[in-house]
Amino acid sequence: MELINASGVSFVYSDGQQALKNIDLSINSGEKVAVLGPNGAGKSTLFQLFNGLLTASTGTITVKGLPVRRENYREIRTIVGMVFQDPDDQLFNSTVRQEIAYGLKNVGVKDEELECAISWTLEIVGLRGYETKGPHHLSGGEKKRVALASVLAMRPEILVLDEPTASLDPMGASRLIDLLGSINRELGITVIFATHDVDIVPLLADRIYLLSKGEIVLSGDTSEIFANKEIIRQISLRLPRVAHLAELLKRDGVIETDALPLTIGQARRIYLSEHLSAAPRSLTEEK
Ligand SMILES: Nc1ncnc2c1ncn2[C@@H]1O[C@H](COP(=O)(O)OP(=O)(O)OP(=O)(O)O)[C@@H](O)[C@H]1O
Ligand SMILES: [Mg+2]
Repeated sequence: MELINASGVSFVYSDGQQALKNIDLSINSGEKVAVLGPNGAGKSTLFQLFNGLLTASTGTITVKGLPVRRENYREIRTIVGMVFQDPDDQLFNSTVRQEIAYGLKNVGVKDEELECAISWTLEIVGLRGYETKGPHHLSGGEKKRVALASVLAMRPEILVLDEPTASLDPMGASRLIDLLGSINRELGITVIFATHDVDIVPLLADRIYLLSKGEIVLSGDTSEIFANKEIIRQISLRLPRVAHLAELLKRDGVIETDALPLTIGQARRIYLSEHLSAAPRSLTEEK
């Protein structure tokens, strides 16, 4: 089922800056989609059109067939959960518990149902024990999880995350990627995220929209997109580091295969199958 559709969408800011040009996009239920682009490509602008924070200058956006217009905002905002790039733009309550309870209370959830929803959410995002802490005194990574929790508590059908791993340390970024993967897999929530971090995209996204200067320059499966090395580099991005290494080793004649690994896991599988007899048994058995 199609959850979000954008057709011929353009957006011009009031100072005349054209941030988006003729965007066509379609997100289906259950997908994990990256909007990948350099700084200023229009990622945040695009995401703000999905739930009516901004209004398209031309073209149409629909969420489950509902045009993103004032009369549909309430319904659309229960379907689309938006996690901002900066958690300080999202958090305004004095405790983590209140932060998670706020939206739920607004839609009339109370008593036992409220308690269940709060503890379910805290469990999923790994914030048990944080209930009485003040969100503004938490670390950047913890704040991100509280912001995600406050959105997830409302059980949206689609999570829209703007730069979810920006400002996280490597372990925090890796945990968040795993968490988003399991939210998608186990709760069936569709995930769309914006980033310029080419190393994290293959760890989470099945599909990519490549955005540059307000236009979608390519869209397709993650491996298809990264095969377009020239275009990726032209728009000030690069290949994932492991893919770059593979490119160099191939050029130097060290490896034979043309397969382009995008993650360390993919690289191990590709090279182990090339050198299977040489690999220690323990390595070939590892996932
Ligand atoms: N409020 C605004 N008024 C005018 N121009 C804006 C405004 N917000 C963004 N822009 C411009 O619109 C373009 C797209 O910006 P946007 O923030 O959507 O890009 P982005 O892809 O999210 O970038 P980043 O990776 O830096 O977050 C940029 O040229 C930016 O300068
Ligand atoms: Mg942005």
